Amino acid sequence: MKITFCCTNTDAQPWLEGLRAALPQAQISLWQPGAAPADHAIVWAPPQQFFDEQSQLKGIFAIGAGVDALLKLDLPEQSVLVRLDDAGMAVQMAEYVCQAVIRHFRELDLYAQDISAGQWTFHKPRQRVDFPVGVLGLGVLGARVAQALAHFEFPVNGWSRTPKVLEGVKGFHGPAQFNDFLASSRVLVNLLPLTAETSNILNHASLSRLQPGAYLINVARGAHLVEQDLLALLDSEQLAGATLDVFRVEPLPLDHPFWQHPKITLTPHTSARTLRETSIAQIAGKIAALQRGETVAGVVERVRGY
Ligand code: NAP
Ligand code: GLV
Repeated sequence: MKITFCCTNTDAQPWLEGLRAALPQAQISLWQPGAAPADHAIVWAPPQQFFDEQSQLKGIFAIGAGVDALLKLDLPEQSVLVRLDDAGMAVQMAEYVCQAVIRHFRELDLYAQDISAGQWTFHKPRQRVDFPVGVLGLGVLGARVAQALAHFEFPVNGWSRTPKVLEGVKGFHGPAQFNDFLASSRVLVNLLPLTAETSNILNHASLSRLQPGAYLINVARGAHLVEQDLLALLDSEQLAGATLDVFRVEPLPLDHPFWQHPKITLTPHTSARTLRETSIAQIAGKIAALQRGETVAGVVERVRGY
């Protein structure tokens, strides 16, 4: 069995060593233009040339959860496309989102400002009941985030394409229940995949339907958010603030207004990172399962877009 590795912006050597240790019977090599055809590919942001040359692949394994960029390429039709299925990302996402919600709810930035001004000040405690959190997307990451928020006793709403039942989470699904979901939420967390249906979903109309003093946390993809609409809603004080981990252009251009905005907290697409060892173990297990003719979790439905 031959496996080719083609991941841009990734230190290939430790991946190759880990994959060779996990799959000792396989021939695993770093892709070079003109390389011999392989059975399986491990990829992140490969060039179209890669798929043009490797048109016989059986399995394509992304080393991330989101496959929107891969689906913009022409992939070999017969190959199975597999995304990372948690692989240590869900707990990271839960940590990140809970800290963003709690930091906003507990006014920790305000306390930090007071402290740096030498002021020992108390602010009136706020009530969780006034901060219902809506989670867009109840998949591998969204479900974990929604349940982590429920453990902190926030009222939690979740929105998905198909109905979902999660303890402590009020479920909404489909376009018909979208506006009710928004009207029931004050903090909005985006964990949708980027697809034709979800692109630009965070816009003036949707964000305006949230409860007064709303707060946005976007940890999915930059193209979900209409940036000018967010800026306008922050300036008009309809939105209280935002925590953003993902952007239309990454790295965020240095002259972008988000950098200096007093109501926006930024991080550089780091809310849930690919963990190399865990990911290698997951991908190696799935390649072995596919070789045995078994089905694997995390197969992308290409028509659906996730
Ligand atoms: P997932 O398991 O595929 O879950 C996607 C969820 O979105 C599902 O609940 C799905 O509904 C729902 N959904 C999809 N299209 C919808 C639509 N049109 N209307 C309503 N709901 C819809 O994905 P995941 O693993 O949780 O990851 C979500 C996204 O997070 C990824 O695609 C990626 O873009 C992003 N991500 C970001 C980072 C980061 O570091 N910032 C890291 C990893 C992932 P059903 O359950 O009904 O199918
Ligand atoms: C990161 O954004 C991922 O999709 O894994």
